[in-house]
Amino acid sequence: LQVIVRQCVLDTLRLSREQLLEVKRRFSEEMTRGLSKQTHKQASIKMLPTYVRSTPDGSEHGDFLALDLGGSSFRVLLVRVRSGTKRSVDMQQKIYSIPQEIMQGTGEELFNHIVDCIADFLEYMGMKGASLPLGFTFSFPCDQTKLDEVIFFCLLCFQEFDLNFVAVVNDTVGTMMTCGYEDPKCEVGLIVGTGTNACYMEEMHNIELVEGDNGRMCVNVEWGAFGENGELEEFCTEFDHLVDACSNYPGKQRYEKMISGMYLGEIVRNVLLDFTAKGLLFRGKVSERLKTRGIFETKFLSQIESDRLAMRQVRSILQHLGLTGSTCDDSVLVKEVCSVVARRAAQLSGAGLAAVVDKIRQNRNLNQLSITVGVDGTLYKTHPHFSAIMQETLRDLAPQCEVTFLKSEDGSGKGAALITAVACRVKNEGQ
Ligand code: BG6
Repeated sequence: LQVIVRQCVLDTLRLSREQLLEVKRRFSEEMTRGLSKQTHKQASIKMLPTYVRSTPDGSEHGDFLALDLGGSSFRVLLVRVRSGTKRSVDMQQKIYSIPQEIMQGTGEELFNHIVDCIADFLEYMGMKGASLPLGFTFSFPCDQTKLDEVIFFCLLCFQEFDLNFVAVVNDTVGTMMTCGYEDPKCEVGLIVGTGTNACYMEEMHNIELVEGDNGRMCVNVEWGAFGENGELEEFCTEFDHLVDACSNYPGKQRYEKMISGMYLGEIVRNVLLDFTAKGLLFRGKVSERLKTRGIFETKFLSQIESDRLAMRQVRSILQHLGLTGSTCDDSVLVKEVCSVVARRAAQLSGAGLAAVVDKIRQNRNLNQLSITVGVDGTLYKTHPHFSAIMQETLRDLAPQCEVTFLKSEDGSGKGAALITAVACRVKNEGQ
C-alpha cells in the first residue's frame, strides 16, 4: 500500500507528452498576446522590447565600461573589444561593496555611491576623465521603484560625468550577446539559475509596442511569469500551491516557481514533509529542520542526484541538512523525489524553449531552423541531468529545430559591454 501511495503522489509531479505539448501551445499563445498592443496588458508573458537590434558580428571595436550591480556588491569593468585579426574581449574589473545604509537608502544615495566607484575605478585604471560608453546590469532583488529611481538618475546625470549611458541590460540579453560573440547563430538567451527567463531575436513587425517594421529586436520574454493567468493550473500539484502561498509574491512567477533553483528545493521539502506525515519517510517523525523553509539549496539537489554518489553519501547529505536518523530506504525515496521534481522542471523549460524556437522558425518561414541558445545559471550548469532532459524535451516538442547550446560566462559583465559595443556599432553604421 505504501508503494502505491508514494507512486500516486509522485505521479502528480509527472507530465505526459500531451501535457507538455499543451504547455508549449499555451506558451506560444501567451507570447503572441504579449507582443500584441491590444492584449499586451492582460498577457502573463510581457515580451518586453529591449532595444537591442543586433547580435555581435565581430566588427565591434573599442573600450567600454560595464557596471554590474549585484546583491551587496558592485562591479565596475573595463572591457576592451578588438576586431579584425586580433579579435578579442579583455576585461579588467574591481569589486566595490555597497554599505547597508546605502543599499537601504534612497535611489539618489545609491546612484551617488555608484558614481564615486566609477570615478575611483577610472583613476585606478589611469583613465581619469575618460569618456566611455557604458552598459549597466542590475541583478539584485531591489524593489522596482528604487530600480526605476536609480535608472532615472543614471539617465539624468551620467552626461554630467561625460559618460555615455547606452544600455540597461537584462541578464538573459547579456547571456545571448556573450555567446553571440562566439557564435553568430546564437539568437536566444536562457537563464536557469536562482530564477529563470529567456530572450530571443523577434521580427520588428511582430513587436507592436515599438514603431518600425524593419529588422529584428531582442525581446525579453520575462517567461517566469507564465501561468499568472492560470495557464499552468491543471499541471500544478498541492506542493506547487504550498510553495506559491508561502512565497514573497503569491500568484506571481508561477512558471519560475516550477523551474528555478530558488523554488525546486522547496517543492522537494514539501513532498518530503507530506511523505513523513504519511509515515513513508524518516520513521514518520516530522523534524523541526524539515519544517524549515529553504534548507534544500539547489546545490543539494544537484549533489543528491549525482550518479557517482552511493546511497550512503546521500544519507550523509541528508545528515548534513540536519535530517538525521534516515534509513537506506529513506535515501532512495529522497533521491527519487529530487529526480521527479528536477525532471518536471527541465521538461517545462524545454516546452517553453520549444515555443520560442518554433516561433523563430515560423517567423522566418523555414521548414528547418538551425539555432544556438546561450545559457547560464547554476541549476543548468551543475545539475547532472537537467540539461539533457531539457534538450530531449526540446527535440521532441520542436522537431523542426536543430538547437545547439552554448554555456555563457559572465553575461552580466561581458554581456553588458558587448551590448554597448553592438549599440555603438549600429549607431556608427547609421551615421
Ligand atoms: C551569471 C550571469 O553567470 O549567471 C548573470 O553573469 C546571471 O547575469 C547568473 O544572472 C544566473 O545564475 P544564478 O544561478 O547565479 O542565478
